[in-house]
Amino acid sequence: MKQGKRVGIVGAGNVGATIAYSLAMLGSCHEIILRDNKIDVARGKALDMSQAASAVRSHTVVKVAESMEELVNCDVVVVTAGSPRLPGMSRDDLLMINANITKEVIEGIAKYSPDAIIIMVSNPLDAMTYVALKESGFERSRVIGMAGILDSSRMAAFIQEKLGYGGGQIRASVMGGHGDDMVPLPRYSTVAGVPLTDVLSENEIAEIVDRTRHGGAEIVGHLKTGSAYYAPAKSTAIMVEAILKDTKQIHPCAVYLEGEYGFSGVVSGVPVMLGANGAEKIIEITLNAAEQEMFKSSCASVEALILTLNKNNFFEGK
Ligand code: 2OP
Repeated sequence: MKQGKRVGIVGAGNVGATIAYSLAMLGSCHEIILRDNKIDVARGKALDMSQAASAVRSHTVVKVAESMEELVNCDVVVVTAGSPRLPGMSRDDLLMINANITKEVIEGIAKYSPDAIIIMVSNPLDAMTYVALKESGFERSRVIGMAGILDSSRMAAFIQEKLGYGGGQIRASVMGGHGDDMVPLPRYSTVAGVPLTDVLSENEIAEIVDRTRHGGAEIVGHLKTGSAYYAPAKSTAIMVEAILKDTKQIHPCAVYLEGEYGFSGVVSGVPVMLGANGAEKIIEITLNAAEQEMFKSSCASVEALILTLNKNNFFEGK
């Protein structure tokens, strides 16, 4: 019997498990179901997290699905499954490996949780969101990629570090794909409402933009054997919460564009309103010529990945 909200998480590695832990601590859903090929590891983590939930008097229970069949009737399913990005590996290197994994996972979700909202976390993020959309056949509002919240949070942290003040009051804005040509928007970034350009020099802002673009790689460089997970997980949990609680908050997320910002047939990060029905509205902010150019080249990178998938007949029969 299903009681309350149910969230499925496919892939119980560092990112998936940390998402589950964040959600269990928040108590925003009744059940979290972890699905991972390493069933015993998932079992251990699920027990551990259920016990942590009890410690904070959260009612959330964390369970394990031994197969996709048990990932049934979820309200939201988060997909983190995939090969992780290792040092020296670009997100794009992961394309074909993770596209095949995503295909299999999405088939299961479409079959057993046909009303779910899918949140994609696997890299290359925008291309995997595209794969999930095509393979599920779901409407575009129900297939959303995480990354904009992550990239904006990184930019905010770098602004705080550079300024030495303003922590918790910084709103940074990043659009575009989750790649090296993402589009940080200093013009739409503020510290307690003060435009960034009033508190930092052009050079300082350029350094922050560059560091944001390579924020993931910076962490891979330190960790050596894997990539970031605390900020990616928290960013995902924010999306799940907004959907479960129907907050209608605006967050930068990766969605399939149908004419917005002048692009169609590609997934990219744009501000969207998140609610019970997923990405309920796409917000079109005004970009200047330079920002438009950057957004265009970010979309072109994602289009190139989609082209590679098509050349490999990945979507044959779809
Ligand atoms: C990150 O940005 C690897 O995409 C992941 O941390």
